[in-house]
Amino acid sequence: MAIAAAAALSACDRTPDLRPVYQLRPDDPTVLVQGKRIYETHCAGCHGAQLQGQPNWRVRDASGRLPAPPHDATGHTWHHPDEVLFNITKFGVGKAANLKDYDTAMPVYENVLTDAEIVAVLSFIKANWPAGIRKKNDEVNKPARAQ
Ligand code: HEC
Repeated sequence: MAIAAAAALSACDRTPDLRPVYQLRPDDPTVLVQGKRIYETHCAGCHGAQLQGQPNWRVRDASGRLPAPPHDATGHTWHHPDEVLFNITKFGVGKAANLKDYDTAMPVYENVLTDAEIVAVLSFIKANWPAGIRKKNDEVNKPARAQ
């Protein structure tokens, strides 16, 4: 019995990971440690050490650009499914939203962070949301994952 269970477990280990590359992992402590470090290095300068964003983040500045929005419950990061957040971070707002020549202060991380690092930092952000907001974000993700 014990041997059968062990065999089943090791078979599980070899099962390929079929999760989409962009799927966030807010319940994986190792991912969160990495994500926090990446957030502090690459994102906190604009999005704030407490994920609070920049002041008046809904108002475009003189050059027409938006300030960095909060990533906490007061922002709209949680309105987006994992795939959209991943694409915004990797390819930039313009490409992700299909807005050609969109002028934004948000950098493109395609050649800066690996896919796993992008998932880690976004997972860290998600892990900071209160339970109710996380649940709403899970709902937003449902239709995308059902396909
Ligand atoms: C130089 C400042 C700056 C840095 C650094 C920065 N961002 Fe941003 N970010 C912005 C701005 C400004 C926006 C708003 C984009 C717009 O609509 O013009 C934004 C928007 C976003 C959005 C979309 C939020 C939403 O609700 O639509 C995500 C996701 C995001 N950033 C993630 C990140 C991550 C992850 C990092 C670090 C790896 C990061 N950003 C680093 C300035 C920055």
